[in-house]
Amino acid sequence: MQPEAMHTGGNGRVRVMMESYRLSNNLAVPKLGFGTYKATEGTGAEVVALAVESGYRYFDTASFYQNEEAIGEALRSAAVRRDEVQIATKVWKADMGYAQTKESLEASLVRLKMDYVDFFLIHWPKTDPEDTQWEERLLETWRAMEELLADGKTKGIGVSNFLTAHLTFLLAHANIRPVFNQIEFHPGYLQQDTVDFCQQEGIQVQAWSPLGRRRVLEDSLILRLAEQYNKSAAQICLRFALQKGVMPLPKATVAERMAENLSVFDFEIMQKDMALLENMPQTGWSGEHPDRARVYFS
Ligand code: A2P
Repeated sequence: MQPEAMHTGGNGRVRVMMESYRLSNNLAVPKLGFGTYKATEGTGAEVVALAVESGYRYFDTASFYQNEEAIGEALRSAAVRRDEVQIATKVWKADMGYAQTKESLEASLVRLKMDYVDFFLIHWPKTDPEDTQWEERLLETWRAMEELLADGKTKGIGVSNFLTAHLTFLLAHANIRPVFNQIEFHPGYLQQDTVDFCQQEGIQVQAWSPLGRRRVLEDSLILRLAEQYNKSAAQICLRFALQKGVMPLPKATVAERMAENLSVFDFEIMQKDMALLENMPQTGWSGEHPDRARVYFS
């Protein structure tokens, strides 16, 4: 995955220079995308339209997020061509299996009013932590994904929330390898073993919750580094992800924070500070894990 320069322009109002990652299927993606989980509540398409204006060109959604209609509408009315943006959606846990996976993408495409997505991901490896049939279901799901790719319904296929054991199993049986693994990743919750495995295998890691849903933004180390680099706490988290070779998918609802989150290509965190961030005690974990019951924090 060689980074390369890629230009994404706004609709004439904003021009953002963004670098890109080259995926194992040879497609290029911007190094930073826009996450949409709960980002569109209430305001719907307006948030996505604002993100396009701010310079975002990669949009991550899922059937579970229930915002595909709004995203499709926003992208259709934005001043960008379909091939200037990339959209990823996901098949939900309950919809896995050969036929259901195909139906799931068809339904997503109807909601998006698009004839293809750029990436189609498996949202979670298992229906629940006690799922004993997950391996069989995963292979059926992946077979459908490979066919959807061959049919041109998606340009790339990947996974989300997979740990090394799930990936090892999939790689042993897949004809086509996943291009992405999207996991929770932020200072204080790196899942480093999974990141290492993905990077060895040429699977691009994407970070959901790269700001730890704000939970890490008040951390004293991050605040100190923000002051030192004259950047915000959010920018430290995003820059950290980039320097770890990860593609963060931050979400934000106002133009100011959208722009702030894109402005992370003009500084470098020194190695000794990267080490401090890498070694932070566990902070801001969502409580979600594919193999364990959800933990709720008060
Ligand atoms: P908002 O949606 O009100 O803009 P994550 O991407 O880790 O899930 O975090 C999303 C949360 O972080 C949202 O509450 C979002 O607020 C907030 N957020 C996004 N960008 C910034 C920023 N630059 N500074 C502070 N908070 C931010």
